[in-house]
Amino acid sequence: MARVHNFSAGPAALPTSVLAEIADEMMDYRGCGMSVLEMSHRSSMYQQIIDDAEATLRRLLSIPDNYRVLFLQGGATLQFAGIPMNLMRRGRAGYVVTGNFANKAHQEATKYGEAVLLASSEDTNFDRIPNMADINARIAAEAAGDGLDYVYICQNNTIFGTMFHELPDCGDVPLVADVSSCFLSQPLDVERYGLIYAGAQKNAGAAGVTVVIVRDDLIAEGPAFAQTPQYLDLKTQAAKGSMLNTPNTFGIYVCGKVFRWVEQTGGLAAMAERNWGKANLLYGLLEHSELFHGTAQADSRSIANVTFRTGDADLDAAFVAGAAEHQIQNVKGHRLVGGMRASVYNAVTMEDVQALATYMKDFEAQHSLSPRSN
Ligand SMILES: Cc1ncc(COP(=O)(O)O)c(C=O)c1O
Repeated sequence: MARVHNFSAGPAALPTSVLAEIADEMMDYRGCGMSVLEMSHRSSMYQQIIDDAEATLRRLLSIPDNYRVLFLQGGATLQFAGIPMNLMRRGRAGYVVTGNFANKAHQEATKYGEAVLLASSEDTNFDRIPNMADINARIAAEAAGDGLDYVYICQNNTIFGTMFHELPDCGDVPLVADVSSCFLSQPLDVERYGLIYAGAQKNAGAAGVTVVIVRDDLIAEGPAFAQTPQYLDLKTQAAKGSMLNTPNTFGIYVCGKVFRWVEQTGGLAAMAERNWGKANLLYGLLEHSELFHGTAQADSRSIANVTFRTGDADLDAAFVAGAAEHQIQNVKGHRLVGGMRASVYNAVTMEDVQALATYMKDFEAQHSLSPRSN
């Protein structure tokens, strides 16, 4: 079996034991004579699969009883479009813009009300998380003034390789976070948030499932806007157990398996230790490199997406092309920023990262005479 070192930002590497189990159960799921792909979502067999996925996630994150767990479709993109429809009751919410996806979420919100820009790091091409004391002061001022329905952040910025290392202090204003690319990569205190959501295709499973964790009281009255499509109405989705319509049955099954794998391999504290070990191996190398440099400011570095470049687009392209010869895949940076990106999600092993580090050192040795153009 030839597996590559896969640094994809998502859909991303899955644990090999999970893939093997899925292969094993493909033709005949636990003696029922059919694949999960062929099973009715209304069957008791399938209900057990989704219930088990939720129960495992609840254990992993110690999710309090007053939070609902949903497995929806449409990706993070549909969720951030639906958030103002559900929560913008007084028509005013605050957004911290730290990258492309936070920006898109902010733009969506402007369709429904006043989307206050609390802070942005666009002036330095999103290489950092804005100053937290400034963010907190702005939230306090807005909350005391015209008020805010919620504060929105994108906790880990997949494209730019930055993350929040502390959460904003929102007082009584609910915090809403896109945690797509840091979900399950470290412990998370659910009670600090009003709503968390994550596209599963990075750390939690296959593309096509979005996990939403939302506090009961925020959805109790139904959506803020009567025109909200039924699918995006979180109260209805919660009442229907994520089965308002046919859910992504197979994707939820994969999530359940990944949740169990996280639990069986040590839980979230162990994930965080391993993930920082992998990320810091690369950050350390970047700090000492003459050729490569990291693009994120040191105090804003991501646990999951390590972004770097040489400063020379041709050299970057040569690095990406040469990687394939070492079975290293998906290290090209996002098309918006260029350069390189290594995503070191839970299923990426230390051996994968060591293979990348070795290739980086070899590449640097071969190109040590090339001038840096930045
Ligand atoms: C942090 C973050 N938010 C949102 C998205 C958009 O996700 P989707 O393609 O599932 O809509 C992504 C995709 O990579 C992401 O990394």
